[in-house]
Amino acid sequence: PETFDVGLLGHGTVGSAFAELLDARTEQIETTTGLRPRLSGVLTRSRGDFDEILAASDLIVEVMGGVDPAREYVLRALRAGKHVVTANKQLLSRHGEELWAAAREHGVQLRFEASVGGVVPVIRVLQETLAAAHIDRVTGIVNGTTNFILSEMARTGEAFSSALAEAQRLGYAEADPTDDVNGADAAAKMAILARLAFDTPVHLDQVSYEGIEQITPDDLEYAREFGLGLKLIGTAERIGHPTNEGRSGISVRVHPAFLYPGHPLASVAGPFNAVTIESPAITEITISGPGAGGPQTASAVLGDVISAMIPPASTPETSQRLPVVTDVASAFYLH
Ligand code: HSE
Repeated sequence: PETFDVGLLGHGTVGSAFAELLDARTEQIETTTGLRPRLSGVLTRSRGDFDEILAASDLIVEVMGGVDPAREYVLRALRAGKHVVTANKQLLSRHGEELWAAAREHGVQLRFEASVGGVVPVIRVLQETLAAAHIDRVTGIVNGTTNFILSEMARTGEAFSSALAEAQRLGYAEADPTDDVNGADAAAKMAILARLAFDTPVHLDQVSYEGIEQITPDDLEYAREFGLGLKLIGTAERIGHPTNEGRSGISVRVHPAFLYPGHPLASVAGPFNAVTIESPAITEITISGPGAGGPQTASAVLGDVISAMIPPASTPETSQRLPVVTDVASAFYLH
């Protein structure tokens, strides 16, 4: 069969999980797409040559993180007519417009589902499902590390630093967790969501943020006494005249917030992410799931790769022949 060559930039938590997942799913992807995906090369800090990998690839997966040299590699790939799948929120929140323009100009796809929400499909929902909706507000828990830390502190009463160490051990945190805990990682993700929701350029510098470094077990105890949740929340919303001295526009910000018990984000615990999208036509939807972690993020990256492999709007061939069981007993409870 014809092959589809994937060049991998980065072999950290997400990159190595992606390589493993691609290997495990090769047969299935070949059946559904008619193309056999193959890793054409891996670039790490100490091995691999970008030019060689680019020449040998149909698509580049960028999971190295950071702005430089990721920006140059992604631009060069797009200009060479290669599709790019990236998980790089820092890059997109600073240079997204330049990269999306390059993709349009060269008629290739730049996919970035894994840049926000891990495997929670919030990019697809904003770009496809809600493409025609007028969105008023997007609220989210978009950093798994801080949500895990706050959940652990609330559950066990332990200090911030030991919960952070556990998040690092489990592979949720960035290589340098500073951006997780100070809110910068969530701010980058909110900039990307705001750009899509409001169809307007939003740069990371325009997002104000505050992290959770100052939160103590006492704050969480106080929240519990009042029946409230304490979460790191990102908000992107339209602001109108009455509240903004005659100016209208959008506001994007990240800070710790108390949530009333019935709030759609209040029960989201652990390394999970959740995003609520409010729009008059649809009222609101909330999507949630694992927002951090190597295998979860790798799954979103591979989903983007497969989407780039299949022609737009086609439903791929089935790869399985599973028995559909019709005599399963129903139950009145869900578990
Ligand atoms: N460090 C990030 C988080 C990983 O904790 O959410 C996913 O972007």
